[in-house]
Amino acid sequence: MSIKYHNGQFHLQTKRVSYIFSVYRGLYLTHLYWGARLEHGVDLTYLPEEFIFSRANAFHVPLDSENRVFLSDLKLEFSVVGGGDYRVPAFHARYGDGSTVSEFAYGGYQIYRGKKKLRGLPATYAENAAEAQTLEVTLRDALTGLKAVLCYSVFEEYDVITRNIRYENAGAGEIALLSAQSACVDFYGKEYNLLHLRGDWARERYPEVLSVGRGIVTIDSKRGMSGHAHNPFIALTAKNADENSGEVYGFSLVYSGNFSMSAEGDSCGGTRVTAGLNPFGFDWPLAPGDVFQTPEVVMVHSGEGIGGMSRVYHRMYRERLCRGKYRDAPRPMVINNWEGTGFDFDEKKLLDIAKVGAEIGLELFVLDDGWFGARGGDTCSLGDWHVNSAKLPNGLRGVADAVNGMGMKFGLWFEPEMVSPDSLLYRAHPDWCVFAEGRKRTENRYQLVLDLSREEVCEYIIGAVSEVLRSANIEYVKWDCNRNLTETADQTQPHKYMLGLYRVLETLAERFPNVLFEGCGGGGGRFDPGMLYYMPQTWTSDNTNPIARLKIQHGTSVVYPPITMAAHIGSIDTGRDCRNAFMDVCARVAMAGNFGFEMDLTRLSAAERRQAAEIAARYKHLRQTVQFGDFYRLESPFDGGAAWEFVSADGKQAVLFTYQTQTALNGESRRVFLKGLSPSASYRCNGKVYSGAALARAGIGIALEAYEYAGEVMVFEKIESEFEKN
Ligand code: DGJ
Repeated sequence: MSIKYHNGQFHLQTKRVSYIFSVYRGLYLTHLYWGARLEHGVDLTYLPEEFIFSRANAFHVPLDSENRVFLSDLKLEFSVVGGGDYRVPAFHARYGDGSTVSEFAYGGYQIYRGKKKLRGLPATYAENAAEAQTLEVTLRDALTGLKAVLCYSVFEEYDVITRNIRYENAGAGEIALLSAQSACVDFYGKEYNLLHLRGDWARERYPEVLSVGRGIVTIDSKRGMSGHAHNPFIALTAKNADENSGEVYGFSLVYSGNFSMSAEGDSCGGTRVTAGLNPFGFDWPLAPGDVFQTPEVVMVHSGEGIGGMSRVYHRMYRERLCRGKYRDAPRPMVINNWEGTGFDFDEKKLLDIAKVGAEIGLELFVLDDGWFGARGGDTCSLGDWHVNSAKLPNGLRGVADAVNGMGMKFGLWFEPEMVSPDSLLYRAHPDWCVFAEGRKRTENRYQLVLDLSREEVCEYIIGAVSEVLRSANIEYVKWDCNRNLTETADQTQPHKYMLGLYRVLETLAERFPNVLFEGCGGGGGRFDPGMLYYMPQTWTSDNTNPIARLKIQHGTSVVYPPITMAAHIGSIDTGRDCRNAFMDVCARVAMAGNFGFEMDLTRLSAAERRQAAEIAARYKHLRQTVQFGDFYRLESPFDGGAAWEFVSADGKQAVLFTYQTQTALNGESRRVFLKGLSPSASYRCNGKVYSGAALARAGIGIALEAYEYAGEVMVFEKIESEFEKN
């Protein structure tokens, strides 16, 4: 049993982690511990009363008549406005009389096997009831009848605990939710850093470490989408934690819209983390009988630094967030025409590119933007999902059949959430976009966003996309989204938009189980766990420059598994053999993810085609390890050089990618220490035999070249000993 209740204390236990809290004075849920596993039976209920200080009880609220315990010192699992807790609240509401004060008290719990689906929202899942256990603790506000149900699911084998809160209006009055967070965790101690992933278009998800100190550090999005600037992820890290060691506490929100995650260092020596929907501009009516479900936060503790945390997220998201036919299947190697042709193509051009792709050994041809309506550039036709027969006289079926005839799958780009003002759809339904009455409709990339909070708009999208998918043998969809919300009609619209989008995606994923969906947000602007639930891979960034990509993929891998990162060799200055070295580094970066090409392959010289074919064959040999193995960041591209290692799930193959990011004429030597190998085994690489222990402890030297794009792919194959075979 991974969840135990004893004497007012809840103990959630995974293979390596314990999370413990208790009921305090029948009112509060107090956080006691989150860290390395403790045995069941340990009693930590003494902790809240350990902190006996002399506090000014005019400014700190005492919880007993002897002024021994103060609310400010209490570590809470749920926090509200009122009662004297001035830290960031997990919950804030306005009641019928205008008051925003709440007063919740403990109201019981239940524990059950498995994990329920979250209504209308993406979430991690258990494949059978034995895989997870769930605890639901109910808190009640007696005056209004509002219930907050705190849900904790424990994935023992995965070392993961998830949280969400369900708000149920069991009273008789209207309630407006102003802040409905998914989780609140109060840490003992104040010496924490906050790790998050910052960015912008073409430089998504760079890791950044901020000191929490005695302020509030908030990472958020108010864009209606998770966005390029901030990712719905933070980790609180001990000051001495690094890639390989130290305590790290990750919070990853399974949501793709407006979010907020904050850490607050308080004046009494604690640190509070809250995570959930962004309270900014949030005002959600909850009528009697209504239920509001918050998104899920996936929480990971690692005693093995940031790398340890990443590997837990990778496995969890690969196996228990992503779904469908492609979850466990090697992902096809892509050739996408976007960087090669832009909007300027016809059927012949596409098939010429596809033909070279097939010769090289690629497996999926993707037709990107520009195949529909009158689209010859980005100024028109979004919403008109009918093939442009001037460009493609034989329709999509003509292209798909020809591509299939070459032995490749055929895939297609859509941007279904958008409408161009210059489109048939907009002319027919000018009120179907997101807009605020009387305000200008701000255009971005000449487009507006369809209002997915409306049922009929969602139905239109489902119908239009389904019709196209049925019109030809389309086995892959790239689902793009090239702008954010600007003017919203009211404060419920952004969340309703997300619920609408999730419904559309769920319907399409169910209706087309053989289609591989890939998310995209103008590059990597919506690379989040919510999207991965429906689409098991995402276009990582529009920036395919390999040195820039190293940083983007490195940062993305802090949370997201490499199999989810679409990584293509982008358009390079093809046709000149002197660029071979450049193709080589592009390949090494792309091969460390979900691999493909994104260029006009017809422009490759004969030598480059041979090189491209060798690269594709090499990736095929490594694909299982890269896509399903354990990932180790040995060196960071932010520190000059980069080295990444993958170890296959069966431990039989390890792949080391090294990259030189700066010129190193007369440079300093580099040595890397491999991880995840068996110390007693031997490994063969490039004709040499190495001991696992030596690779881990003595390491290997990385060849230094003058050229900044230099590097290697080293494949270590385990030599099975007689002993191991038996
Ligand atoms: C943005 C995407 O990130 C690109 O890959 C490409 O699909 C363009 N949109 C097409 O408009």
